[in-house]
Amino acid sequence: MNDTQRRYDIVVWGATGVAGRLVAEYLTDRYSPAELSLALGGRSRERLDTVESELVGQSDDWSELPAVIADATEPETLRAMTRQTRVICTTVGPYTTYGTPLVEACLDTETDYCDLTGEVNWIRESIDRFHERAVERDTRIVHSCGFDSVPADIGTLLVQSFATEEFDAPCETVRIYLESSSGGVSGGTLASFGELFAAVSNDPVARRTLENPYSLAPPGERTGIDPGAQSRPRRDALRSSWTSPSPMAPVNERIVRRSNALLEYPWGREFRCTERIPTGRGLGGGVRATAIAGGLRLFTAAMSVDSIRDGLRRFAFPDPGSGPSDAQLANGHFTVRLLGRGLSTDGPFTVEAEFGADRDPGYGATARMLGEAGICLLRGEIDSPLAGGVLTPASGIGLPLAERLRSIGFTATVGRSTA
Ligand SMILES: NC(=O)c1ccc[n+]([C@@H]2O[C@H](COP(=O)([O-])OP(=O)(O)OC[C@H]3O[C@@H](n4cnc5c(N)ncnc54)[C@H](OP(=O)(O)O)[C@@H]3O)[C@@H](O)[C@H]2O)c1
Repeated sequence: MNDTQRRYDIVVWGATGVAGRLVAEYLTDRYSPAELSLALGGRSRERLDTVESELVGQSDDWSELPAVIADATEPETLRAMTRQTRVICTTVGPYTTYGTPLVEACLDTETDYCDLTGEVNWIRESIDRFHERAVERDTRIVHSCGFDSVPADIGTLLVQSFATEEFDAPCETVRIYLESSSGGVSGGTLASFGELFAAVSNDPVARRTLENPYSLAPPGERTGIDPGAQSRPRRDALRSSWTSPSPMAPVNERIVRRSNALLEYPWGREFRCTERIPTGRGLGGGVRATAIAGGLRLFTAAMSVDSIRDGLRRFAFPDPGSGPSDAQLANGHFTVRLLGRGLSTDGPFTVEAEFGADRDPGYGATARMLGEAGICLLRGEIDSPLAGGVLTPASGIGLPLAERLRSIGFTATVGRSTA
């Protein structure tokens, strides 16, 4: 389809939800109507009108934000939406429940797409069903453009690009440390966790996807030497610190491995990556690592039992549509540190990158990551040999996303490490 026939640059689909509203708010705050033709997408005109009047009310530039009505259960409405826009940023989740028809509509209409999914089972389904078609149609379907998995994936790309340029060799290992973070969680995110655990309980493919560290690699390439996510507290020699497992490791590590595979292994077939939470030195560090690892094991065990999971969803988790408090949004922050180890002709070297923002990671910062991923797709600010496919942030957009995030105040630095 000719791009000039499309009325909008970006539609934020899910604009009535917690994350989608923040994405729309960010884009209207950062860009003017002269720079960006933006529309709000959702299933309810009334709720979209409410969001429109709130956003227009707080903006000097925007006097209107058109509404596009599209329901995940009505594929024709999705095609009508994707036909009208150059890029879709979608926050309609759980993606396991609502995501597939939109990817199909984007492929039918050759519309570039980015989302916030961390549901590994669904990413695997999307790869297996749609990658080849997305390649044929030169359409970018870029998953996981939020806190899952931009800091890990683009951070690893920063490390590896620096290593290759400075030392003429990639790092054999990259460790991703979730060093600090403060923020909240929404009902929509917990509902998505619920869908992931339900899929793993009931679907053998979803179970195998979480067991195999290479499950998001292309078919035929789903084996390798990397043992995958850490499951117990461990001392980490690179940081001289105790570390615990990270709850985001199952998605972030697989996304990074997929990036390496899609880019045709510039970091080598024996490349290893792990994501961890550093908890400090000595006895205190060990105790904290044990407590986090134990908490995660307990949460996983509870969510794996159908009746407990249903009970938590009904009586303990906030409802979809409710999000973090204003104070959590205002005071949030995160820092992800990455250390890469490699071997050049001059001997071993270490590269260090830092990725962070003074925003709560899952919402304020995530809204900016997804919004800027959409802008990169729209403007063709892409450094990747791949013109289409079911992609990751690093393989679908690449370093221009780091540049854009830096320009709006994120930390995205890389250099030689003294560690
Ligand atoms: N990767 C990350 O770092 C990250 C961070 C934050 C969120 N997320 C993910 O983003 C997703 C959204 O989270 P959230 O907190 O924004 O959830 P939410 O507040 O529940 O919002 C969900 C959105 O989906 C819409 N929706 C539901 N059913 C629909 C249908 N049949 N057709 C069209 N739209 C429909 C809702 O519309 P109505 O208002 O009409 O109900 C709402 O706009 C979740 O999957 C979450 O896990 C990821």
